[in-house]
Amino acid sequence: MSSQKMRAAITGVEAYIPPYILTNEELSTMVDTTDEWIMTRVGINTRHILKEPNEGMSYMAERAVKQLLEKTNTDPSEIDAIICSTVTGDVVFPATSSIIADKCGIVNAMAFDMNVGCAGFIHAFKTMSLYIESGFCKKAIVVSGEKMSAIVDYTDRNTCPLFGDGAAAILVEGRTDGTGLQDAILRSNGTGRQHLYMKAGGSQYPATQETIARREHFVYQDGKNVFKWAVEKMSDVSAEIMERNNLQPEDIAYLLPHQANMRIIDAVANRMGINKEEKVLVNIERFGNTSSATIPILMWDKQNLFKKGDNLILSSFGAGFAWGSLWIKWAI
Ligand code: UT7
Repeated sequence: MSSQKMRAAITGVEAYIPPYILTNEELSTMVDTTDEWIMTRVGINTRHILKEPNEGMSYMAERAVKQLLEKTNTDPSEIDAIICSTVTGDVVFPATSSIIADKCGIVNAMAFDMNVGCAGFIHAFKTMSLYIESGFCKKAIVVSGEKMSAIVDYTDRNTCPLFGDGAAAILVEGRTDGTGLQDAILRSNGTGRQHLYMKAGGSQYPATQETIARREHFVYQDGKNVFKWAVEKMSDVSAEIMERNNLQPEDIAYLLPHQANMRIIDAVANRMGINKEEKVLVNIERFGNTSSATIPILMWDKQNLFKKGDNLILSSFGAGFAWGSLWIKWAI
């Protein structure tokens, strides 16, 4: 293949899913809910929870990154950048990317975190692509992980069935064979921030006995509003990225949508005109919504389906509000 523009390509993907499985049956002993409601309204059957005592998100990210280094025969010293997307970092500071780098023996790398809610992975990968394409970085890692169970209120039936824990990491390298990241659309609208957030624990409302008593250290979500926005915005950018690149439904190998609600995924697929059974990848039934980790976990879970050169569309929507779509050509 003739040499083309340098593009950032995914040259490996690994994940760590904690072993504990929280079923709808167990949830229905904790709050007033049923397997039938969760399956029909959301599409989640099980989610995995990190039960390891005194461990945060980096416990999972460390394992995903170490597996990635091993699988791709990469020495930690070769990694020159690590971006971690998360809303559930181990501590407020330092960045969890520094903790992960330290645990994995990565000592020569720029490291920082990105907090873009459920759209974190697509933002982090696009950001990393700019470092790779400019030549500033050669071999880098994007790791997305969430310990949502740390910020979910298991007495609130509106949110506790939705979320799960997990982490996934990709190796990013430059390619000149036409594969890699082709196009990206990233957008935000901060007026939506009141519909999905955690009120306390930051500098506005540091932890006090009152904030704890008011249960303000948990995820708050106005599900109906988020649902409406997610359907509209994820559909818009997924259609737009196809239109502006003259991609027809038959050109797309797979859609990898954020896994928040089966009904949102269906609506996005309909708008793109792609066949749901054949081309839309889904694992929400097993893992639930792992926030910024859903797309790389899905990529890891389904990677055996992909062939080099396949056109993949990644789309996500989440807190902020922030959303977007990426078009990549699979590189391995
Ligand atoms: O990842 C970031 C982006 N997040 C999302 O994309 C999530 C978007 N939102 C959603 O997926 C949906 O809005 C939810 C799954 C969160 C909720 O589904 P919904 O169809 O919008 O339900 P609702 O909130 O309108 O509630 C409908 C009914 C209510 O009862 P009433 O008021 O009609 O009597 C709720 O109280 O369902 C009730 N309900 C439940 N019932 C049983 C809410 N949660 C539950 C539950 N079990 N767990």
